[in-house]
Amino acid sequence: MKIDLLQMVEVGGCSAKIPPEQLEEILKYLPLPEDPNILVDIDTHDDAGVYKVNDDLALVFTTDFFPPVCSDPYEFGQIAAANSISDVYAMGGRPVIALNIMMFPASKMPLEAYIDILRGGADMAATAGVRIIGGHTIDDNPPKYGLAVIGYVHPRRIITNAGARPGDSMILTKPVGTGVILAGQRLKMASEKDITEAKRIMKLLNNSGAEVMKKYDIRGATDVTGFGLAGHALKMAKASNVSITLNVKRVPLIGKTYDLVDQGCIPGAAFRNLEYAEPDTRFASDLDYNLKMIAFDAQTSGGLLICVPNDSKDKVISGLKKAGLDNSSIIGSVNDYEDRFLYLNN
Ligand code: CO
Ligand code: CO
Ligand code: CO
Repeated sequence: MKIDLLQMVEVGGCSAKIPPEQLEEILKYLPLPEDPNILVDIDTHDDAGVYKVNDDLALVFTTDFFPPVCSDPYEFGQIAAANSISDVYAMGGRPVIALNIMMFPASKMPLEAYIDILRGGADMAATAGVRIIGGHTIDDNPPKYGLAVIGYVHPRRIITNAGARPGDSMILTKPVGTGVILAGQRLKMASEKDITEAKRIMKLLNNSGAEVMKKYDIRGATDVTGFGLAGHALKMAKASNVSITLNVKRVPLIGKTYDLVDQGCIPGAAFRNLEYAEPDTRFASDLDYNLKMIAFDAQTSGGLLICVPNDSKDKVISGLKKAGLDNSSIIGSVNDYEDRFLYLNN
């Protein structure tokens, strides 16, 4: 039996994250553990926690899991794994081991689909050089899948949200629009070509982008996922105490993302992300409305958003392009903090 995972979910991928304000509210009630070996914790909204083992080694530890973003179980496994591993790359780490996290409705779906999801995850992990050494499954509907991943990083070479400096340029390594195109697929508005391209982008590991970052000794980066490009840029600006300007017309888009938004295909997560960012954002008066909403579109397994010292931006872009990341673009800049953390201009 051929199963269509998208028939089982209302929202898939990182669009299924809880709204950012709610998350912040919840986190207020959690004590932050104190330990001198904790090098990065949730305080800076980073992609992963980092724990120092000794002067030469720290562990990058992260987890992500979500409901299906595509119809095919094997591809869903690949995308979920690429997305989970990405947080280690975003922090400058090398992913090493992982555990499967799986929720699966055993009475509603054939076991082959279960196996195919895990096989997709295992194959993607193998491509990244990650060994999956265990996991855990709960009977639950709709299905959800992801990994908890541990990576290695040198304690002095951690790349964080807090590393943006005035004068840096902002570089994005993958085009944006996965949330819009997935919504367009559900509404039968997106073309087969764009759906295939969105899946290709989501399956693309951020390892090659991370290699280029390490080569140029870059200290500020994140990956773009559920809070959208603008949401993640805002988190970086706050953690780094700077203002970030994004030029929305320079942001590379997947296929016909712009036209889909123009026809009203805007996922709910984009509005939630916008609402969260609004108090800290200055919108240019002539800002293109569609590009503004695309900047807040929740991405699944999105690209790296990297802060690069201005004098090395061209070398980094050509390094990224040489690594096969053809859409890599300079999409903004970092300034001293003014009256808002984020500025959206055309
Ligand atoms: Co992340
Ligand atoms: Co994450
Ligand atoms: Co267990």
